[in-house]
Amino acid sequence: MAERDWASELPRRLLVTGGAGFIGSAFVRLLLGLPDPPGITVLDALTYAGNLANLEAVADHPGYRFVHGNICDPVVVEGLAGEVDCIVNFAAESHVDRSILDPGAFIQTDVYGTFVLLEAARRHHHRRFLQVSTDEIYGDVAAPHRSREDDPPRPRSPYAASKAGGEMQCWAYHETHRLPIVVTRGSNTYGPYQFPEKIVPLFITNALDERPLPIYGGGTAVRDYLHVDDHARGIATVLALGELGRAYNIGQGDDPIDGLSVARAILQLTGRDPSLIRHVQDRPGHDLRYALDTARMRELGWAPTRAFAPGLAATVAWYRERRDWWEPIKSGAFWDFYQRNYRPLAGAGSQL
Ligand code: NAD
Ligand code: DAU
Repeated sequence: MAERDWASELPRRLLVTGGAGFIGSAFVRLLLGLPDPPGITVLDALTYAGNLANLEAVADHPGYRFVHGNICDPVVVEGLAGEVDCIVNFAAESHVDRSILDPGAFIQTDVYGTFVLLEAARRHHHRRFLQVSTDEIYGDVAAPHRSREDDPPRPRSPYAASKAGGEMQCWAYHETHRLPIVVTRGSNTYGPYQFPEKIVPLFITNALDERPLPIYGGGTAVRDYLHVDDHARGIATVLALGELGRAYNIGQGDDPIDGLSVARAILQLTGRDPSLIRHVQDRPGHDLRYALDTARMRELGWAPTRAFAPGLAATVAWYRERRDWWEPIKSGAFWDFYQRNYRPLAGAGSQL
């Protein structure tokens, strides 16, 4: 199906929470690049994952405003919600490994923060509320099944459970208060400006620095890898054209790819030796397979435009060029987290 005109159907005044993060900033850059862009206020707490450099390209755009604040703060949220007709909620703690080490922040932002936003949207009779959710809420999916939107949630990590909890609040507000909700469930996203903790940017930056690539277990767990530009355009499509009360899977929809293949492809693209691969103990509760049925998105006229191999090559080229972006954030606190997470998995004496 040909792509439909989503741009002319967008709400005109948006509050984008978590807009300084990886996918949120791609979404903001996409919308502010349109010929007739909506007005966008970004609300972001600038946690370790938030970075104003991600929004540098739009900093002087007349339709853009940045507010430094927390979605769990009802006073800040109430004030901003009165000025817009729609909330798009990207704000979250988003890394599974951190949710295993420190789950409290996940419950706070992903569940309670979502509730604060929903309450404000209800009071101000918003036209739409889009919750950015994840395919992780389906849990481990046995082959050959691909998760469909009506499949039951079976979250298995503290991160996935917190995202499912936020989503459940959204469905409750839709049913109880008729709040105009749409939900997106995106798959593993990669591309420029991703904090170097998820597999793709961690392995690229480690490889560029000739550091080991820590593979969990045998590296056989598979994921559906989606380029961030396709994910951002998918979210915009659902915001404009999605049916209220529905969830939408946004994924590449191809056969998912295992971690070892991702590592090998990155080593080849960076010209590094396969001996950099380091098998460490498996992630506790590791979901071994995610796979998505994306037919519902395709009915909206959306399809991914970037296959994984060229998308990964372009991403490697970006990280090679943009050490100025990632070197400052891959320091101090990052290495504290790295040691805490990987040291027990690698075992004493193993070089990381
Ligand atoms: P990210 O970690 O890069 O960015 C999260 C952003 O939210 C940061 O800018 C951070 O400062 C902000 N934030 C965190 N807590 C906040 C709070 N309490 N108040 C205000 N701002 C806060 O995340 P991402 O990878 O861009 O993911 C964005 C959304 O998409 C998340 O909801 C995530 O669950 C979802 N998602 C991510 C992926 C993926 O592969 N990265 C896939 C599917 C869905
Ligand atoms: O599926 C969507 C989800 O994808 C998003 O909702 C999350 O925000 C995002 O973090 C991501 O979760 P994953 O846990 O799937 O992504 P991560 O990059 O952490 O891991 C991808 C795969 O790579 C997984 O099988 C674990 C493996 N892995 C990951 C890291 C960080 C390793 O083998 N070694 C590693 O060091």
